[in-house]
Amino acid sequence: MEFNKRTHTCGQLRIENIGETVILNGWVDSRRDLGGVIFIDLRDRYGITQIVFEPTYNLAAHEAGKDLRSEFVISIEGNVRKRPEGTENKTIETGFVDVMVDKVIILNKALTTPFQINDNVDVSEELRLKYRYLDLRRNRMKENLLTRHKIYQVVRNYFDSNDFVEIETPVLMKSTPEGARDFLVPSRIHKGKFYALPQSPQTYKQILMVSGFDRYYQIVKCFRDEDLRADRQPEFTQIDVEMSFVHEEDIYEKVEILMHSIFKKIKNIDIELPLPRLTYDEAMEKYGSDKPDLRFGLLMVTLNDAVQNSKFRVFKETIENGGIVTSLLAKKCGDYTRNQLDVLTDYIKKLGAGGLIWMRVKEEGLEAPIAKFLSDYEKNNIIKKLNAEVGDLIFIISGTKYKALQFMGSLRLEVARRLKLIKEDAKPALLWVTEFPLFEWDDETQRYYAMHHPFTSPKYEDIDLLESHPEKVRARAYDLVLNGNEIAGGSIRIHDSNLQANMFKALGISKEEAEEKFGFLMNAFKYGAPPHGGIAFGLDRMVMLLTGNSSIRDVIAFPKTSSGLSLMDGSPSEVAQEQLRELHIKVRN
Ligand code: AMO
Repeated sequence: MEFNKRTHTCGQLRIENIGETVILNGWVDSRRDLGGVIFIDLRDRYGITQIVFEPTYNLAAHEAGKDLRSEFVISIEGNVRKRPEGTENKTIETGFVDVMVDKVIILNKALTTPFQINDNVDVSEELRLKYRYLDLRRNRMKENLLTRHKIYQVVRNYFDSNDFVEIETPVLMKSTPEGARDFLVPSRIHKGKFYALPQSPQTYKQILMVSGFDRYYQIVKCFRDEDLRADRQPEFTQIDVEMSFVHEEDIYEKVEILMHSIFKKIKNIDIELPLPRLTYDEAMEKYGSDKPDLRFGLLMVTLNDAVQNSKFRVFKETIENGGIVTSLLAKKCGDYTRNQLDVLTDYIKKLGAGGLIWMRVKEEGLEAPIAKFLSDYEKNNIIKKLNAEVGDLIFIISGTKYKALQFMGSLRLEVARRLKLIKEDAKPALLWVTEFPLFEWDDETQRYYAMHHPFTSPKYEDIDLLESHPEKVRARAYDLVLNGNEIAGGSIRIHDSNLQANMFKALGISKEEAEEKFGFLMNAFKYGAPPHGGIAFGLDRMVMLLTGNSSIRDVIAFPKTSSGLSLMDGSPSEVAQEQLRELHIKVRN
């Protein structure tokens, strides 16, 4: 169809354009027929312009305007005029003018959309995902993607101007050991063999260091077949970074300046540098999380000292067995009812905790079901340690160290939500969590796993503990946390083959298995590997937080549902028998 190309976008016209003849292309956003005159808001990516079909101005155009419906794609030609006094729309930049239409061409009609294209429409996420192209027309979704685009540009500019090289790494690769399940791609040519989609480009970026590209970055898709949540997708995007000849401090510095730049350019917020740091142990003890939310206080307090000689068996045995008694002070919550306390106890029990001890601070001392088991000395100690005052409520959880701390950490967040401690306009809380344990024990398989990945270097002073006390070895690993979300993680790597061999041994990985799985990387390291380290950002999570969304699906153009489905195109889907045959695959029933 013949159509006239736009002279202006729908977000462009201002007072200065009054009197000009213009052509606009766009979608019919809304249509009001006020008896004789038809008003249409014409929309494109740049904004909205009001166009007017008036019979006394142009009868033919007015007649044609009667056929227009929501979401029709049209091209109009007309004259820009000042809106009559009192009809201006000060909420939009084009709101002081409108366009008197002389000519309209319908470029495409549209069916009635399954939901209205506006920000306040109350519609299920399933429907939005099925008609994602319509959902993305909505202003909020558009803004999310535009902010994401701006963040790419800030990131690329930053790394480029700091001598980093952007290098693409393969999407079809050998499986990397990042802890999640791989997505596999069967090979047609090599019967019975599979590629894996990268969980991250970890091994490639390390190999690039061996090749001498001492500053690498990439904005890259990663794939993990894991249980999905609001902050997890099966395919997601990382800003992946690796550097040679560096210590932790060099990585922190580069990342902090990048974060400063992103916050400045995207939100006009000046982040204070250097960022605060907490070791893993500090974060766990004070916040019960390795991704603590520092937008509010509510610090946990360890009570082991205060109750170590207690006659209360639970405390005594926990401490004797190396466990922890941790507590949380809820200010002015002493009037919580039994029912409210039962709800919190149930919440904690559902997470797996044995129970929740609570105590009300009263004039006459602590009032609690366990009060009779504690001496006055212990009760006073607890009050002193927590700085508790009359009217406050104290929660206590005891158990094995990290589990009890985690339960209390969850309670801390729940109490903060109930007390509305997180203010809408709270300053963004960024921090580093450092000195993670190198290993974590898995009860099910009865073995240690690398907490980050097996190429993460132990701290030098802990290397001797690798065999005797693996649980005590700290890693040169770090996470960047924003408002209680892990937005990046990385480490200084092992670049010495002997140390790497010891690491595999500690992980219970045999020489043969190590050779089979990681031989290519170990081989590369034999030809001159520089000391190196890096980090990867979860870009989707970062954009989610910067745009104030609570699901990463809202900042990804075409995301999957929480059960891994793409509702728009219907993937995953069955394939023809012929395709399966070619791939030497038979689906079992
Ligand atoms: P890690 O596994 O910690 O490290 O991942 C880095 C960051 O990626 C984000 N992330 C995810 N985002 C959305 N959906 C997911 N399923 C998902 N999984 C992870 C998180 C996380 O902080 N190769 C190492 C990095 C390194 O050592 O340099 C790695 O991938 O925000």
